[in-house]
Amino acid sequence: MTDVLDSPTVPAAADPRTAWWRQAVVYQVYPRSFADSNGDGTGDLAGLTARVPHLARLGVDAVWMSPFYPSELADGGYDVADHRDVDPRIGTLEQFDELVAALHGAGIRLVVDIVPNHSSDRHPWFRQALAAAPGSPERERYVFRRGRGEHGELPPTDWTATFGGPAWEHVGGGEWYLHLFAPEQPDWNWANPQVREDHLLTLAFWADRGVDGFRVDVAHALTKDLSDPLPSAAELAAGDLPDGAHRFFDRDEVHEVYREWRALFDSYDPPRTAVAEAWVPAHRRARYASPEGLGQAFNFDLLGSPFEARSFRTTVEENLRLAAAAGSSSTWVLSNHDVVRHASRYALPEGADAEAWLLSGGTEPAPDTARGLRRARAATAFLLALPGSTYLYQGEELGLPEVADLPAAALQDPTWLRSGGTRKGRDGCRVPLPWSAQGPSFGFGAGPAHLPQPSWYGPLAVEAQEDDPASTLAFYRRALAERRRLQGPEELTWLEGLPEGVAAFRRPGGWTCLTNFGTGPVALPAGRVVLSSGPIGETLVPGETTVWLEDEPRGGRLDQEGPTR
Ligand code: NOJ
Repeated sequence: MTDVLDSPTVPAAADPRTAWWRQAVVYQVYPRSFADSNGDGTGDLAGLTARVPHLARLGVDAVWMSPFYPSELADGGYDVADHRDVDPRIGTLEQFDELVAALHGAGIRLVVDIVPNHSSDRHPWFRQALAAAPGSPERERYVFRRGRGEHGELPPTDWTATFGGPAWEHVGGGEWYLHLFAPEQPDWNWANPQVREDHLLTLAFWADRGVDGFRVDVAHALTKDLSDPLPSAAELAAGDLPDGAHRFFDRDEVHEVYREWRALFDSYDPPRTAVAEAWVPAHRRARYASPEGLGQAFNFDLLGSPFEARSFRTTVEENLRLAAAAGSSSTWVLSNHDVVRHASRYALPEGADAEAWLLSGGTEPAPDTARGLRRARAATAFLLALPGSTYLYQGEELGLPEVADLPAAALQDPTWLRSGGTRKGRDGCRVPLPWSAQGPSFGFGAGPAHLPQPSWYGPLAVEAQEDDPASTLAFYRRALAERRRLQGPEELTWLEGLPEGVAAFRRPGGWTCLTNFGTGPVALPAGRVVLSSGPIGETLVPGETTVWLEDEPRGGRLDQEGPTR
């Protein structure tokens, strides 16, 4: 047995009031697709509040809610027109307060999304910037530049935006503004003190309303070096600065911003938490996750990992080490609103490109749906047994696959249009949830949903799975309940000498998790089985299955030496 943690871990007695996030199960709600209370086809706050009992029964510790702010929906709400209000199509501030009260009443915390790299082009400050002259203080809050060419008719650089197309938009008179994402998402200028001040006001606004934490969107992009001469796209890609730093991603100065935010978070009792969405190399993650910064950072490494024991173990080992060294806990993610759902990724043959599969409408290559779900459940059980926090995405508790055949006319993600139809985008994981087996939108609302739901949704609905002990919903509920009962200090010890394709570890308190990533059966270890991700035999764990085992009591006390069976 090898202990992978070579850095100090948080003591078991860490104050759960302030350290709750360290080993939390956080459930992501994409509010427009969760539950629609008024039948307009869009999910809303009242719909979410009405479904808090579902989340309580599931057993999650916190909800992370994607943007619910006023937005033109150029990027699913990540184009925010007013960071301190609720989109009228989603609800009101009073309904927000009711949601907080309902969640807190059920013992569930609330994390909201903060989008600090850009605003919507409908934000009043951006409207003011457009109305003002080049070089004015209003324009200084964003990134405006004179274009190239005699009359500024060419963009300042050849940079491309994340969703495709140029990263600059012309506003007339040879003036352009920068948008790393859609043109409707102008980038803030973080060198401007008003921008910094305004974001602190936003954070305090929600913290004062009882929000427990923040998920920080594109946390690595805010501060940029836009000094002249601006590099070309090729120079950028090559790492244009002598020290290897990028002009706008992961610059050291961004941590000054987060130190200021941390001071604000720590002025609350209990301190507010934050988790960075920072697509940076693993060794740079610690800076975002440090206690002087945001405190935690997403690790997306398993999204790209094959369903394979060695790969999962290596990723876990590295991330536990990095998180502990940062003074944080690790995060585990298999699905979110930006990626193909893991039940579908795991249904594809090894090495298949999920984006290309989406583009084929979900037919090429043909998915093995049963296998996808079997592996998804096994991987989820593996994750939920790990030290650290696990982020679940709405609908994964139903085993929802991606809706890969949405018609082009229904697609909302800017990726589709901006890539000229070469990338389908993220709508397939954002299709509104099925709550009941029948009804106009499977219980999502009283009318059709804003993205079309597939005809095969019925048997996957909450209502259809509710009373079936073999359902994915029942499995998630059991897993979360057992995790809560068994969870101890943030430690893990790998079991060695196992058959090829098997990964297993022990947690303090006499609890073992074993995942058979292979296809043939392996021997069931000793202990009392408290969870299995699928059917198991008396003595065998079938392929693509995870089991959790608790040590059998011996002589009236839990055996401390090891498995007894
Ligand atoms: C990351 C978010 O998760 C994604 O949905 C969004 O499109 C971009 N940031 C831009 O805000």
